[in-house]
Amino acid sequence: MQTLGIIGGSGLTRLKALSVERQEVITTPYGEPSAPLTFGRFDGTQVVFLPRHGPSHTIPPHRVNYRANLWAMREAGVERIIGMAAVGGITPPMAPGVLAVPDQIIDYTWGRDHTLYEADLSSVTHIDFTDPYCAGLRSDLLRAARSADVEVFDGGTYGATQGPRLETSAEIRRMERDGCDLVGMTGMPEASLAKELGLCYACLALSVNWAAGKEDGPITMAEIERYLEEGMGRARKVLAAVAGA
Ligand code: HPA
Repeated sequence: MQTLGIIGGSGLTRLKALSVERQEVITTPYGEPSAPLTFGRFDGTQVVFLPRHGPSHTIPPHRVNYRANLWAMREAGVERIIGMAAVGGITPPMAPGVLAVPDQIIDYTWGRDHTLYEADLSSVTHIDFTDPYCAGLRSDLLRAARSADVEVFDGGTYGATQGPRLETSAEIRRMERDGCDLVGMTGMPEASLAKELGLCYACLALSVNWAAGKEDGPITMAEIERYLEEGMGRARKVLAAVAGA
């Protein structure tokens, strides 16, 4: 079976229940990944784990070295990767607490190192990105969630914003008109770099707040942390089921 890679986001800098076998510092042509890769067993199954924001959650979304992270995963022999993401909910099905496996992306990020195809090229390369996520891994995630008895929403468009600030309510209204269901800051260029590297990549998103303007008042960190704490327990169950599938 292909080794599963897990890129942990906010609320998942460590995988509880991962029995660590070794850690490896991997250097890449693009510099250092966010952390050494952790090789271990999750519910008995081999996985490779990488905390996207660093071991102590200090790297903001626009400073993550996405190219090094994905390159290091491939270097470690990983062929399928689940990117965990905490997101804001825009449309009614994406209420705080909901887990979702999105099927589309709209990219609003800028100024990030977003491609491997920019230097020393023998010809200009354009990857197909019609379906940004790996269909097989999306199905595996949804099946694993059913087997673990965890409710997960199938589909939704992930709008990737630059951060680290949250959005204005007008930005969220525009994103909703564009067709976004969820908003997060790390979905891109992670997904497109995975595709450039030929890796099978899917996202497991946890809604931790209503997006800006979707309810009265400001978005508070206390609210986000409450949903993170509770939701990551369910996310871990899905990850354990998919790793063992
Ligand atoms: N916007 C962007 N990213 C996020 C949000 C949000 O509301 N919540 C969690 N990550």
